[in-house]
Amino acid sequence: MKKYVIQGGAKLHGDVVVSGSKNAALPILAATLLTDDDVILRNVPRLKDVTTMLALLAKLGKKVILEDERLIVQEDVGSRSVRHEATYDIVKQMRASIVVLGPLVARYRQAIVSLPGGCAFGPRPIDLHLKGLAALGVKIEMKHGDIHASARNLKGASIDLMGEFGSSVLGTDNVAMAAVLASGETVIENAAREPETIDLMEMLGKMGAKIEGAGTSTLRIHGVKKLHGCDWTVIPDRIEAGTFIAAAAVTGGRIRLKACRTDHLEAVLDVCREIGIGISEKAGVVTVTGKKPSAYKGFNLTTMPYPKFPTDLQSLFTVVGALSKGISSLREGIYPNRWSHVPELARMGAQIQVENETAILGECKGLDGASVQASDLRAGAALVVAGLAARGTTEVRRIYHVDRGYEELPEKLRALGAHITVESDTLV
Ligand code: EPZ
Repeated sequence: MKKYVIQGGAKLHGDVVVSGSKNAALPILAATLLTDDDVILRNVPRLKDVTTMLALLAKLGKKVILEDERLIVQEDVGSRSVRHEATYDIVKQMRASIVVLGPLVARYRQAIVSLPGGCAFGPRPIDLHLKGLAALGVKIEMKHGDIHASARNLKGASIDLMGEFGSSVLGTDNVAMAAVLASGETVIENAAREPETIDLMEMLGKMGAKIEGAGTSTLRIHGVKKLHGCDWTVIPDRIEAGTFIAAAAVTGGRIRLKACRTDHLEAVLDVCREIGIGISEKAGVVTVTGKKPSAYKGFNLTTMPYPKFPTDLQSLFTVVGALSKGISSLREGIYPNRWSHVPELARMGAQIQVENETAILGECKGLDGASVQASDLRAGAALVVAGLAARGTTEVRRIYHVDRGYEELPEKLRALGAHITVESDTLV
């Protein structure tokens, strides 16, 4: 196994190019199952979860060619694999694999997809996915940990995807990808409005799907008989951008984020301005000017579905809050148990109390480097950012969690002046 070794204290400075969005690329890759034409994808980030999804597509009868900076996803006519079965060995590596369910049912009228497990921050239910597919006429059976889905015909329906914690991003994606090939009209109320879902809907439109309302909470889909290939460029990753904003803020550095969609970051940039982090935007470039973290004002935020503050940046802004002056509070409106970073940050000296779904942060006299362990993707990213700000050396272990969701994170941080190396971890 590998670990990051970070010497804290360097102020980040320079330019960083934001990669393509992991959370847009994964459903977009699943959407290639909806056609046997070639699909060309650009700006797909090179990270573990994408590699896992490509392996899954290969099992489902696709061939992927990397040409220059383009991914070409083709039908593998010679493939002898069962084209509608997503087995546990892959799904267990990445619960987002569930997003092949809708396309498989749409294309083959049947699918067997292993039930995704939970993750470090609690159960990851899929009841909304299944409710939506059932409304379209899909018969769902659970057998030995697998979802067995079948449908004689897919018929448009009115579906409400509101769950206890708001809508479901991948639930909306799954149901929409089944509805595009259903007969008649489907209306999805309380659909996800995330930029990644908009990106998927717009790509489906380019493939010939008839979808209205992308980005609103009501999607109206008129089913078509067939979809064709397309050439699509994935949007930039707003969560990676937010990660670098937090890194520049806590190190008191000054960076320029390039290829950034600032319209996807409004809630995040508003919080930055409220805290006192310098933010200026011009034509897709965000300049972040940090200061001594103890000069930042304490803040209160709640994570909510888009366009509010994203849950995926909660752990990163927990680090900012831990270093800010006064009291800060962060309430998790999406995953109430998403706190695996907190005990590790406390070991570095952060003053954090978690009460139910809220973390209360007191003042601390800076952080001290320590040996810490990542338990999930964004918790691991938060520990890296904390290490950049800490006095002395921080070792972040189990970095395979971080590699799942960031393209070349150590390399990009080193290019900004961070002292971070990747070393083998004999202890784990
Ligand atoms: C997507 O996960 C993202 N992953 C997550 O990012 C992100 O945290 C999440 O959306 C919320 O924004 C990808 O896009 C690959 P949800 P998803 O269904 O779609 C509950 C990262 O770090 N729910 O929108 O699986 C659920 O428990 C990852 O990049 C149900 O109750 O999340 C949660 O509380 C982590 N029933 C809330 O809804 C369901 O059927 C939102 O979940 C589905 C979800």
